Amino acid sequence: MSAPIVFAITGASGATYGVRLLQQLVVAERPVSLIVSSHGFRLLETETTIKSIDDLRETVGSKGWDTYVKTYVNEDRGAAPASGSALSAGMVICPCSMGTLSAISVGASRSLIERAADVTLKERRKLVLVPRETPLSAIHLQNMLRLARAGAVVLPAAPGFYHQPKTIDDLIDFVVARVLDQLGVSHRLGKRWDGTQAK
Ligand SMILES: Cc1cc2nc3c(=O)[nH]c(=O)nc-3n(C[C@H](O)[C@H](O)[C@H](O)COP(=O)(O)O)c2cc1C
Repeated sequence: MSAPIVFAITGASGATYGVRLLQQLVVAERPVSLIVSSHGFRLLETETTIKSIDDLRETVGSKGWDTYVKTYVNEDRGAAPASGSALSAGMVICPCSMGTLSAISVGASRSLIERAADVTLKERRKLVLVPRETPLSAIHLQNMLRLARAGAVVLPAAPGFYHQPKTIDDLIDFVVARVLDQLGVSHRLGKRWDGTQAK
């Protein structure tokens, strides 16, 4: 199997983006090292019907989960994603809280998620951050700028409307498709703009 994509879910609104992204990574048969922060679990509970890791497994599909998903505890900074010697195919944090984004921007590494992101940057691997916050303070913007300059991709959960979405799923898939594109994972979410679809 190829090197895993490290995937973190943190406590920003937009838990459904994370669930859909995880489903798509499993559909694409990509191994995933999954870390959910305590507030990531809280937001899953608040915004979806998922109340536990078992619910998340069921939502993703137990067969795909058992084949492709390996879970890690966020407090365990000695787990595999904490070391650059453990190969990965990059990391995505979706959704990404401003707290976690801020910690990564200064290299705090106080949790496995923060440490894995720090490692991803130092190893010059792809780091994709999906914040949802709005409006943004000067502090948020400075943190994002620092991260973008360090090589991270800051990809706000801001769906476009040029494909004329009809459902919430359309809006979610728009964002998830952009994340998958960044990770180099092929998908069939939505049509790509060919430059002629609207006047
Ligand atoms: C219902 C709810 C919604 C939240 N939405 C956001 C959000 O959209 N963006 C954000 O940065 N923090 C949000 N927070 C606050 C974070 O969950 C909080 O800062 C937390 O400490 C983040 O921790 P984590 O990054 O370790 O998950 C929200 C909290 C709750 C309870």
